[in-house]
This record gives sequence, C-alpha cells and structure tokens, in this order.
Amino acid sequence: MTRTLISGGLVVTAADELHADVLIENGTVVALALPGRHHWTADRVFDASGKYVVPGGVDAHTHMELPFGGTFASDTFETGTRAAAWGGTTTIIDFAVQSKGASLRAGLDAWHAKADGRCAVDYGLHVIMSDVNESTLREMPGLIGEGVTSFKLFMAYPGVFYSDDGQILRAMQQAADTGGLVMMHAENGPAIDVLVEQALARGETDPRHHGEVRKALLEAEATHRAVQLARVAGAPLYVVHVSAREALAEIAAARDLGLPVFGETCPQYLFLSTDNLAEPDFEGAKYVCSTPLRPKDHQAALWRGLRTDDLQVVSTDHCPFCFKGQKELGRGDFSKIPNGLPGVENRMDLLHQAVVDGHLTRRRWIDIACAAPARMFGLYPRKGTLAPGADADVVIYDPHAPHTLSAATHHMNVDYSAYEGRTVTGRVETVLSRGEVVLDRGQYLGRPGHGAFLPRSTCQYL
Ligand code: URP
Ligand code: ZN
Ligand code: ZN
Repeated sequence: MTRTLISGGLVVTAADELHADVLIENGTVVALALPGRHHWTADRVFDASGKYVVPGGVDAHTHMELPFGGTFASDTFETGTRAAAWGGTTTIIDFAVQSKGASLRAGLDAWHAKADGRCAVDYGLHVIMSDVNESTLREMPGLIGEGVTSFKLFMAYPGVFYSDDGQILRAMQQAADTGGLVMMHAENGPAIDVLVEQALARGETDPRHHGEVRKALLEAEATHRAVQLARVAGAPLYVVHVSAREALAEIAAARDLGLPVFGETCPQYLFLSTDNLAEPDFEGAKYVCSTPLRPKDHQAALWRGLRTDDLQVVSTDHCPFCFKGQKELGRGDFSKIPNGLPGVENRMDLLHQAVVDGHLTRRRWIDIACAAPARMFGLYPRKGTLAPGADADVVIYDPHAPHTLSAATHHMNVDYSAYEGRTVTGRVETVLSRGEVVLDRGQYLGRPGHGAFLPRSTCQYL
C-alpha cells in the first residue's frame, strides 16, 4: 500500500475551505485532518503550505479527434489528456459520434478504440446522435446501462449532425423514460444556413461574418424551443456552450418555473469576444466556434449566470484545429473554417483568474469546474470533491504564481493559443490522478494508459 500525505494547504471544495492535511492510500482519499492534530506517516509527502489543495478538474465537454469540415480535431486522446493534466484537469468527458446511417454502438465502439490505452487521465463518454430513428432510440437504454448516460443533439448543422424537432422530441421522450440526459446544441441551423448563403453572396467571406450570421436571437430561439420540447417530453435538458445573454435568459426563465433545465458556458465566451473574430489577416479564424463568440457586453450576463446558478458548469468544448492547414481551409469562405477552439489546458487557470478578478468565489470556482460537472454527469463524489472515499485526483495549486498562456509553452497539439500572451495569476504545481503523480513542479510524470474509462450514473441533480 502506498500512503501519500499532502500537508499544510488550504483545501478548497465546492462546499468548504479549510486548512487540512489530506491522506491518500493507494488511489483514494481516506481522511482529512487538522494539521498537527494527527500522527500520520506516509511514503510520500507534498508540502502544500501557501497553496490550495483542490479536486482535479472535470471537463465535461471535449472533442478529441472530432471529424469536422473535412478534417479532424488535432488533439488525440493521448495529447489532449496530457494537456488536460498540465492544466489541472483529471477527468474529461468526450463525445463519441454516431455517423449517419450507423448505430450508436458503432460510434461508441470507435471512440472506445481511440481512447483505450492512450489517456493520461480518466475519461467518460457522451454520444452525439446524428441520426435519431427507431433503431437508435432503442439503443439508448443499453448505453445508459453501460455508463454512457448523456446524448448530444444538434439543432444546428443541417445535413451533418442536425436533428429536426420531431427527432428531438422522440429522443427526449426516450431520455425521460430511461434516465438519460439530453445535451443540446441550441442554434437554429436552417435559418443560419440562409444567412450564411446570403452573406457569402454579398462577398462577406471573412471570419467575423461567422459571428454575424449566427445571431444571438437564433441561439435564444433554439434554446426556447429546446426548453419547450423538453417540457412536453417531461425530460431534463442540459444546454451546451451558452454564449448569448438572450439564450441565458431563456434558461433562467425555465429554471424560475422549476424546470430541470441546466446550462453550460465555456471560457472563450467569458474571456474572448467578436473583437477576436475581427482580427485582421484571417487571424479571426482562430476564434471560429459555434455557438460563436459574442460582443463583450454579453460577458457580464454570463458571469452573473454563473454566480446565480442559472449556469452550473464551465466546460471547454475543447476542439482544436491548427491555424496552418486546418483553419486555413476557410480562407475566402468563413463557412468552411472548422469550428472549434483549444482550451482543455487553460480552463482551471482562467477560472482561477476569475476569482482573482472578483467574478467568482474560490468555492464557486471549484463548483463550476469540478463538483457540478461531476454531479451533472453521474461521477460525484468519486470525482469533483476531496472527501474520504473520493478518487485521489488532487491538484496542488499555487494561487500567486504568474503564468503566461502561449502556444510556445502549452501542451495541446495545436499551433496557436486562443489566449496568446495573456498573463494569469495562478498555476498548477502538482497533479495526482487516482493517487499517481502525473505532474510535479513542471515535470510531467504521467503515462498513456493510466487514464481509465469511467462508467457514469445518471444525472445527480434530478
Ligand atoms: O465550434 C464548436 N463548438 N465545435 C465543436 C462541436 C460542437 O458543436 O460542440
Ligand atoms: Zn455544439
Ligand atoms: Zn462541443
């Protein structure tokens, strides 16, 4: 048996802040105690004086190797989970993609094959349903039984991932009956496609037009429709990557009615804006994602939503495409720029910066980045907290260290940083995953294959 002691730090969870020592046996947290009030011995001791001791981050929305727009997201499960660990995230939940005409099972098997034996940290899987029909609806309960309990549907991307309202309603009815959680990409895709065609016909081909055609009102309209469909089906709803204040208002209104509607936003919507999409020389392509970045004045509403719990989770929607050769596919036609931003390595630091800036309390930082995603997707309290019985996924975090985000120093397999040159206060010092040291003071000690698949229970907010 290996015993590890983390001593002298400030333990921060979603519920508490306390100066405590943390004892780990093998891969599990076994006890917390007041410093100096125990006689624990250990094989390995980490001195966390002056540091925070927090649960490893849970990033509930990543896309390693996602096929999109004729190319693939540039992080593999190996490179992406390594980068996650560098940033203090010890659990990711990625999306297995069902191809049109194929089964959910085939998509799930393909994603298991990509991830198995390659991950540095633990991982779960959601399923993207691109083809809702009698047969795929019948597959849902079996997948839930295997721990794949959430299903993403798209109101956007007609001809690719899109589901119409009838398909959405059927999937929601099945989720209501079986305990699944529908995750919704809420944008009115058919209307956006009309606006794309009209913009291109006017010669508006630059990346900034991506943000202009994907209107906030079309995110809000789709969010409203998704809420009503979920209500009719009697199903819970989790709206992914909320970026528009008008969409957030729809979620808040639903929650005020007591409906089981949940919302996620992402660091890019909190820290970046349409100003980035308008960067010259096609640099704006680096910031093309959907839902799109919004004008800066949407950010205050998102921060407020995180404080008031109208938004519960911050995930990255990590979906990196290199500028060279991938984002460049859309030179001369913004609609051909692969959608997605890198960020799995940056989330914990950016949200800590939000604590420094006064947007969030420390406990709320850990709630939205660790505990709430673990609860939302059936992993709590194994993940998302530090308590006896929890997996020893632990981050020692230096809250004072200055840290400049840059492609020159990051570990994501992508040739740019969406936050290039931005200095934040705070940096990960040590990372443990199930008791194994993955990272310590700038030295990477992890290995592909340590990370294990996590079968999940159903949503724990219901
Ligand atoms: O732009 C994005 N978000 N790319 C990833 C796919 C998705 O819709 O989440
Ligand atoms: Zn999406
Ligand atoms: Zn996504």
